Amino acid sequence: MSVAAVIGAQWGDEGKGKIVDLYAQRADYVARYCGGANAGHTIVLAGKKFKFNLMPSGALYPGKTNVIGNGCVIDPKRLLDEITEVKAAGITPTLLISGRAHIVLPYHFELDGAEEEKKGDLAAGTTRRGIGPCYSDKAARFGIRASDLLSQDALSKKLEKMHDLKVKQLGIYGKTFNLGYKDVLSQYSGYGRLLSPYIGDATFALFSAISKKKNVLLEGAQGAMLDIDHGLYPFGTSSNTTAGGACTGTGIPPKKIDEVVGVVKVYTSRVGAGPVPTELNDATGQKIRDKGDEYGTVTRRPRRIGWLDLVTLRYSTWINGFTGIAFTRLDTLAGFDEVKICTHYELDGKKIDFMPQTQEEFARCKPVYKSFKGWLDMPEKEWKAFAKKGYAALPKEARDYLEFISKDIGVPMYIVSVGPGREDTIVLKDVFAK
Ligand code: GDP
Ligand code: IMO
Ligand code: MG
Repeated sequence: MSVAAVIGAQWGDEGKGKIVDLYAQRADYVARYCGGANAGHTIVLAGKKFKFNLMPSGALYPGKTNVIGNGCVIDPKRLLDEITEVKAAGITPTLLISGRAHIVLPYHFELDGAEEEKKGDLAAGTTRRGIGPCYSDKAARFGIRASDLLSQDALSKKLEKMHDLKVKQLGIYGKTFNLGYKDVLSQYSGYGRLLSPYIGDATFALFSAISKKKNVLLEGAQGAMLDIDHGLYPFGTSSNTTAGGACTGTGIPPKKIDEVVGVVKVYTSRVGAGPVPTELNDATGQKIRDKGDEYGTVTRRPRRIGWLDLVTLRYSTWINGFTGIAFTRLDTLAGFDEVKICTHYELDGKKIDFMPQTQEEFARCKPVYKSFKGWLDMPEKEWKAFAKKGYAALPKEARDYLEFISKDIGVPMYIVSVGPGREDTIVLKDVFAK
């Protein structure tokens, strides 16, 4: 038995969905621990694409228990749509929603937009999925939790108070809210009825699973640089996306987690606002964007592209305690004569090799690069052949590039991904192997 976490090491969209789906093969439980429908996790199975916002990425295997942990915030309508989508694919998902997870309400969407407008150049460019306002209410202890959807009394009492407050809050931003308290109550009571078979005590279920020596896979959302505490404040999200969040967002104690796999895209991508020192606002960036179809899974916004940044990756490795790395997108970065890695920054004339504390300092950081020889591009079927032949068969230039990163951060490679499909993967270590 083992407990393993799969965590975004950069700015999100590293390919966590694909890696979780792969490792889920031998997992008994797959649990999301943070975020909500701001996440967009893509799984490509037999050529068919699934994009999950809330459904854990173990959903495509029948018989696994998919948990939405207490650290998540749930848009019930979207989750119900995803349940329908999985059922349409011929799979009845086993889903367990923590009664302690918080519920995103209609006001949260409105407030997300209103707050972003007000913040101006400090706006993070959110996904407008109501994430920040929902976590704000959780912290202020105004929140409505999944367990409240099971009791008409609890829901109506809490919702009535909240409705009044939120309408006033929206008024501060000059916004009106057209749904009445009764409309919201009836809408969310309806969601509660539909979700009631899935809502339960996920903390106890995971405790029982670990006591019975089951394999548990914890699925991160977002990435280290978006963490509310450790990320690039205020341009990140509103939850702890890093390894600590895997504990608080599920109730699994730190000493029970055996493996922490950092998913590292071999270059940088970022959706949203704020400084990105290695950003490529040029033809190279555009080429990577086009080649990799780098457009947001949730919002379809073009992702900002840059060279790999070791400064933030070193920091991310430290705060997450990675035991292994899953590299993704080796195929996308192919076909360049030269590729670069940022090894350190220059900040106000000084060399630094660890992430600074403030976004103001971060914005002044100038990347310093080491150049590497690029590797040849190949048709998709040749990449698929590499997945079968294994790591040693990869082009030497690509291996040199990956080994430089792995050595610098002192973390071994567990996976090298060379395409979006489950089969396009070189697995060097399976976290659940006996
Ligand atoms: P997540 O949020 O971390 O799960 O990542 P997303 O699903 O938002 O974005 C990752 C994208 O990269 C998806 O379209 C994946 O199908 C795709 N992907 C993952 N690994 C690879 C890879 O090794 N090569 C290629 N070409 N695409 C990949
Ligand atoms: P996955 O799990 C990439 C970014 C948004 C914005 C900031 C805050 O697919 O990797 P929010 O809506 O959370 O309040 O937005 O965080 N963001 C993501 N970027 N991948 C994600 O998730 C993200 N989730 C949030 O673009 O800058
Ligand atoms: Mg994504």
